Amino acid sequence: MSKPHWRHAHAGDLEAICTIAARIHPDLAERPEIFAEKMRLYPRGCRVLATGGEIAGYALAHPWMRHQVPPLDYFLGRLPDGADCLYIHDVAVLPDHRGGAARAYVTEIGELARSSGIATLALVSVYGTRVLWERLGFHAVAPDAALRDKLSSYGASATYMLRELGK
Ligand SMILES: CC(C)(COP(=O)(O)OP(=O)(O)OC[C@H]1O[C@@H](n2cnc3c(N)ncnc32)[C@H](O)[C@@H]1OP(=O)(O)O)[C@@H](O)C(=O)NCCC(=O)NCCS
Repeated sequence: MSKPHWRHAHAGDLEAICTIAARIHPDLAERPEIFAEKMRLYPRGCRVLATGGEIAGYALAHPWMRHQVPPLDYFLGRLPDGADCLYIHDVAVLPDHRGGAARAYVTEIGELARSSGIATLALVSVYGTRVLWERLGFHAVAPDAALRDKLSSYGASATYMLRELGK
């Protein structure tokens, strides 16, 4: 089996992405069209973890505004003008292929952000992954009332986190 590596996702990966999403996020379901829209709007941020001929994970990110969170299963419509962060919508890796995958994706997406003139990464931590994201340089941000409301669709442990990218 070849070493897993992130590659750009293409339309033909959608079925594999949905299969992994259904397995990893049974309680946070999103329609295939929601994934497809992100891949169309911002292909550079959408990657799959390729291992041999198989796909063992996916990760989706797109430009967004800090302190704003798209609700789950929500069409973005368009990317905002003047985006000030790259928002990591989801990273999901099958259990047998974990270990270094999130770190590798965050490194790649950080380079993409910098080269696009964006200085911040953002995400919503779920399933108690806050410590994992802290290891990758993110810090939790206290949500205001509007953000708290938006976070509610992500479950009780949802935590909004930011990482400022160094120069
Ligand atoms: C989250 C996920 C993608 C991480 O993948 P991974 O390949 O295990 O991640 P990494 O090994 O790159 O982990 C990044 C860092 O966090 C650490 N880490 C991993 N799991 C951890 C845990 N449960 N608690 C604390 N730290 C953890 C790793 O050791 C690593 O630090 P290091 O590089 O300094 O050793 C994977 O666990 C997953 O798919 N989980 C289910 C879906 C999910 O929770 N997605 C995130 C939604 S916000």
